[in-house]
Amino acid sequence: MQPAGAGAIVTGGGSGLGAAAAEALARAGARVAIVDLSAERARSLADRIGGRAFALDVADGPAAEALFPEILAAVGELRILVNCAGIAPAGKIVGRDGPMPLAAFEQAIRVNLIGTFNLLRLAAHAMAGLAPVAEGERGVIVNTASIAAFEGQIGQTAYAASKGGVASLTLPAARELGAHGIRVVAIAPGLFATPMLQAMPEKVQESLAGSVPFPQRFGRPEEFASLLLEIVRNPMLNGSVLRLDGALRMAPR
Ligand SMILES: NC(=O)c1ccc[n+]([C@@H]2O[C@H](COP(=O)([O-])OP(=O)(O)OC[C@H]3O[C@@H](n4cnc5c(N)ncnc54)[C@H](O)[C@@H]3O)[C@@H](O)[C@H]2O)c1
Repeated sequence: MQPAGAGAIVTGGGSGLGAAAAEALARAGARVAIVDLSAERARSLADRIGGRAFALDVADGPAAEALFPEILAAVGELRILVNCAGIAPAGKIVGRDGPMPLAAFEQAIRVNLIGTFNLLRLAAHAMAGLAPVAEGERGVIVNTASIAAFEGQIGQTAYAASKGGVASLTLPAARELGAHGIRVVAIAPGLFATPMLQAMPEKVQESLAGSVPFPQRFGRPEEFASLLLEIVRNPMLNGSVLRLDGALRMAPR
């Protein structure tokens, strides 16, 4: 799929990896809708890159359904969906104050997994109704998992479970949507320098960056965006979860 002239949605586009993805797609000529819980962050990026901003909780089914026609009208033919919206709560199963509140577990699953599927289903339905472009391709959907899907650390049961769900739905979604000419791929980032990580104490950040074999640093959001563009352009990339992690395999803590 060539991004030039294509309609694209980037969820979580107000910050971090989503913002880099939205910017790269816009620079490649796509018409980008930035969807984020934070209307203000989405608007400020949209103004900078010439996209459109939409405020939405990605896990809200009826709200997404209601907003979708407006998003489609803004971007034209929707060919690209990038799901980046996510949260990374930490908490032990058996904590100091008792068992982990079920609501904390539910919230991670809700935003990261249900939110991803919510936009995936609506985008796939819209893409399936379009005329195909080269080689019968109608669209491409890129979800953001995490290496925590495979090596979740202590305190990451909720986050790892949510990202494991994102990783696991990649293949069955690609198998089903292949019949419509739609590809589904997931990126599993290691540690990237975004507000999500930069919120941690500096000492923790240094020790985390030092645990990456090579290059021994956090990934840059542009490196995530660069892989995203390759996935969009390369029709043979389908049904896989691609690690982007500098050979990092996370330790238990
Ligand atoms: N930064 C990393 O090291 C890293 C590593 C692995 C995976 N990831 C994943 O990459 C994705 C992007 O993370 P980031 O580091 O850019 O984080 P970030 O906090 O910088 O950006 C996340 C964005 O998602 C938005 N968001 C949160 N909940 C939402 C909701 N319910 N509806 C709509 N938007 C919502 C936030 O407002 C924010 O703009 C996440 O899914 C995260 O789990 C990040």
